Amino acid sequence: MQVLVTGGSGQLGRALVPALQAAGHQVRQMSRRGTGPGGVRGDLATGRDLAAAVGGSELVVHAASDPRGDPWQVDVAGTRRLVQAVDRDRLQHLVYVSIVGVDRVPFGYYRAKFAAEQVLLASGLPVTLARITQFHPFIDEMLATARRGPVLPVPMGWQAAPVDVAEAAGFLTEVAGGPPVGDVVEFGGPEALSAADLARAWAAAREPNVHVVSTPLPGKLSAAFREGSVLPSARAARGRRTYAEHLRGQHLSA
Ligand SMILES: NC(=O)c1ccc[n+]([C@@H]2O[C@H](COP(=O)([O-])OP(=O)(O)OC[C@H]3O[C@@H](n4cnc5c(N)ncnc54)[C@H](OP(=O)(O)O)[C@@H]3O)[C@@H](O)[C@H]2O)c1
Repeated sequence: MQVLVTGGSGQLGRALVPALQAAGHQVRQMSRRGTGPGGVRGDLATGRDLAAAVGGSELVVHAASDPRGDPWQVDVAGTRRLVQAVDRDRLQHLVYVSIVGVDRVPFGYYRAKFAAEQVLLASGLPVTLARITQFHPFIDEMLATARRGPVLPVPMGWQAAPVDVAEAAGFLTEVAGGPPVGDVVEFGGPEALSAADLARAWAAAREPNVHVVSTPLPGKLSAAFREGSVLPSARAARGRRTYAEHLRGQHLSA
């Protein structure tokens, strides 16, 4: 199929484009600058060049997002602009990349992702909402940012089931090639780990002299992470590569 990947220059997009190509699709990838192979320009925040980028697509995998900027403008209003820009006569499937727990965690970015899901469900387009858990490199980044010299404070009791980016791309490629389900599908990593376990594994691999300290964190957001709100449900598909294997740079044999 003629595929457009939004967010093609992002961490997930860079794995998704080759995975879709390997499945036999003709892939264009959109970002604001339109750089890279098959790159086209399109800005979800303004709508600029969006119609030209999306036009003619039979399959759209919508992975663009702006967590550090204005997700209400890019993720929510931008998704509305995308819905208006697609060619309804040609589009067979639009897969939205979301996050496990967007319906449960009281966090602004997650609320915006949930609102974007609602925009798509109300659009009348053939959609699938693919909720995925945290990517391994995202966990690395969070932990590196949280470190304070020799101490790595982590919220006590938080749980996550991080997942390999390439495996997430493989899952999305499979979902994209199937029929639209008009509902949520989930993909998570192979194991649920506490923030302290993740931090100890990260520190041992990357910063051996760092000491992990679990700190109680009050509030509703923290309670949601403690209660497992970002863990995949029993019906979720699961990846195989563990966080420890990611840290060792170890890849699984087929
Ligand atoms: N990171 C995680 O752990 C994780 C876990 C589960 C699900 N997800 C979801 O997976 C998706 C991809 O995440 P990621 O980590 O790969 O993100 P990322 O690396 O931050 O990439 C974001 C992409 O969105 C594009 N973008 C940003 N603003 C845009 C705009 N105004 N118009 C058009 N494109 C725009 C960026 O392109 P330019 O900046 O080049 O324009 C880039 O290609 C997101 O929807 C995210 O919510 C992420």
